[in-house]
Amino acid sequence: MMPSDTRAIEDAFYARYYARKPVTIVRGSGALLYDDKDKEYVDCTGAYGACIVGHAHPRIVQAISDQAKKLIACHGSTYNDARALFISKLRTILPNGLNRLFLTNSGAEAIECAIKVARKATGRRKIVAIKGAFHGKTHGALSATWGAKYRKDFEPLVPDFTHIPFNNIEAAKETITNDTAAVFLEVVQGEGGIRVPSKEWVALLGDLIRDAGGLLVGDEIQTGFGRTGKMFAGEHMDLKPDVLCLGKGIASGLPIGVTAASDETMSSLSVGEHTTTFGGNPVVCASGSATIDVLLEERLVENAAKEGEHFKTSLLRLMDNHRIIREVRGLGLMLAVETRFDVHGILTTALNEGVLILDAGRNVLRFLPPLCIDTDQIERVIGTLDSVLRREEPARLSSSVAKGNA
Ligand SMILES: Cc1ncc(COP(=O)(O)O)c(C=O)c1O
Repeated sequence: MMPSDTRAIEDAFYARYYARKPVTIVRGSGALLYDDKDKEYVDCTGAYGACIVGHAHPRIVQAISDQAKKLIACHGSTYNDARALFISKLRTILPNGLNRLFLTNSGAEAIECAIKVARKATGRRKIVAIKGAFHGKTHGALSATWGAKYRKDFEPLVPDFTHIPFNNIEAAKETITNDTAAVFLEVVQGEGGIRVPSKEWVALLGDLIRDAGGLLVGDEIQTGFGRTGKMFAGEHMDLKPDVLCLGKGIASGLPIGVTAASDETMSSLSVGEHTTTFGGNPVVCASGSATIDVLLEERLVENAAKEGEHFKTSLLRLMDNHRIIREVRGLGLMLAVETRFDVHGILTTALNEGVLILDAGRNVLRFLPPLCIDTDQIERVIGTLDSVLRREEPARLSSSVAKGNA
């Protein structure tokens, strides 16, 4: 296959479910990516947050290759050494009390498991979720996800899900009652535009649902494993989830999801009630064990805090010089720049100039780089963004003045 065939083949035969960037990525190294013409990009997408230790990290490559030579397929109905090692390492970094876990193939599936566990453990049906939150696109997870653009053509979804406004104390008090099975909380809203909840509201959600005898389910699928400069974003707000859903980067880009809770809570489901063919796959688990080792040994959580601070300060400096920027927000290396206009043009021009950035809605630039990104690479991103905004901004501002909406 010629490299030039790649786009033609995908365009012809792959379902058109992704908004595509006009680039063919063929390899990566650390926080850098390369296209089919060997052009280099600074990666501020981290494969949608799934690349935390950096692309093609030699320790991960070695772990995957060693395990693939030994055993690739192994169903959960037999024991496996790679799975046991991964579970034992994962337990050491999970919040206290979340001692029993289930392994899935995606974040959405981790949420599916949490929905079933919450309902069975409490004997209740009602789930309270939050407006603006994203939990995945399978039917159960989609029922917790907010937003007409994801939901409207697939209704009726799973019944008995209610959404309350983000950071709203009164709505939480009114809605969380003695028949609520669980509150699902995306700890920092990612798709929703990088929204960090207040400590007070998070504490109230915890108090209300526990007083009501239900469970607090934390979704740290995007925020987990150091992304926000702490191992889990909940540490910024003293969150103590009863059930924790994880995914994205913990196997360095191989498909994974994790649902963790106390033994008692997880054991509400019995044998056969919830299984999946590939969950706990040995190659994925070997990659997961190596990812945890690298995360800890290379102090990547600390790097996310340090470089995240530098990144955010630099973005705030850009804001001083560009009226198009309305707000800079986020924690660690989970950052957003909200602009006054559609970001599509900015994303495309930045891509042409060697920086890959995500969006989060129409007017938000989202940055989720690998946690190994360094100061020089961040400076490259800032320099590119500065020059892109210098060119894009005058046209945007003058057209909006002409329309009378500056
Ligand atoms: C917070 C959150 N929850 C759930 C999901 C769903 O994960 P997946 O895409 O692996 O199904 C995502 C994915 O972006 C997410 O960011």
